[in-house]
Amino acid sequence: QELQINLEQIEKGGYDHFMLKEIYEQPSAISDTFRGRMRVSDGIIKMAGIDDNLAKLLNAKRIIIIACGTSWHAGLVAEYIFEELVRLPVEVEYASEFRYRNPVIHQDDVVIAISQSGETADTMAAIKLAKEKGAFVFGVCNVVGSSISRETHAGAYTHAGPEIGVASTKAFTTQITILSLIALKLAERKGTISNSDFHYYLQELERIPEKVKVALESDNHIKHIADTYKNARNFLYLGRGYNFPVALEGALKLKEISYIHAEGYPAAEMKHGPIALIDDQMPVVVIATKKGHYDKVVSNIQEIKSRKGKIIGIVTEGDSTVKELADHVIEIPETEEFLTPLLTTIPLQLLSYHIAVMLDKNVDQPRNLAKSVTVE
Ligand code: AGP
Repeated sequence: QELQINLEQIEKGGYDHFMLKEIYEQPSAISDTFRGRMRVSDGIIKMAGIDDNLAKLLNAKRIIIIACGTSWHAGLVAEYIFEELVRLPVEVEYASEFRYRNPVIHQDDVVIAISQSGETADTMAAIKLAKEKGAFVFGVCNVVGSSISRETHAGAYTHAGPEIGVASTKAFTTQITILSLIALKLAERKGTISNSDFHYYLQELERIPEKVKVALESDNHIKHIADTYKNARNFLYLGRGYNFPVALEGALKLKEISYIHAEGYPAAEMKHGPIALIDDQMPVVVIATKKGHYDKVVSNIQEIKSRKGKIIGIVTEGDSTVKELADHVIEIPETEEFLTPLLTTIPLQLLSYHIAVMLDKNVDQPRNLAKSVTVE
């Protein structure tokens, strides 16, 4: 028993939980994911799975992303990235829904399947269906040799290392890293972004691990916020654009480890009903970074404030406007808009982690959850 506990402590690298260790591993997980695939000085992205199938990817008229849970949220971020940088229409499908429909798939569609474990039954079934219908399926997995990585025609591994905590953290940020590399490679080849932008985006991506470290420095500040709101019954998470999927992901993190009900919404969607929920018992996490429709989000914050909602703003460092309006702000470094999810998700991971720990929940193995849902 004693040895077992010591072994666990060694595996956790001194952290109290695997989830916290994996949150803090994200700077190295992200750089491990782009290392060897991106040469910033030469402006080169090299990924065998992409390079060997470049014609098919360049000719794609549509990308269909299939995934579940957090991987599905990474797919939503990718939808915005591919649409903006590659000018490609993207459909993001819950694998569990896709597999039971009779989806329309054309020869020039490319399907991207995202799965940390590479064993998710719904995603595997959706891949098989897409292949039956003639689609080219590209996998983004974190486990080498996993069933999904063997089932797909090609793929790219996130080099996040084993993710033990049931709540996915470094898988999410490394999935977005891979998807950003793919989008940048295609955009550069298709000429949908300028050469100078391409080089700038590579430099900015290379700076992300350091910026994640800066975001992690707010940990103690976030712990105090967690203590204030740990007994709330409901949370709302709001974001726009690239940060709408991050709002969904933040809500999922809180739900699955603290068992507090939380919903993610596009910030503008509030006035179509959910704003009726706002009262002085409702903490509202609002992602209000400088480059993400900032003025619109600020007016959403004002609407919430006038209804006495408690506002936790995720803002770009140096922000003063939201600081005036919100009850709390958590700052993240500035970056290119399409890369903000890699930073805005960090405080949301830490907020849910600290609340769950304060509520004495089993953070690494939440009730009713499995790390990989290998059954329907
Ligand atoms: C996320 O924190 C959950 N553990 C869950 O939603 C997970 O993302 C989902 O089951 C998909 O798993 P996969 O990425 O291994 O396919």
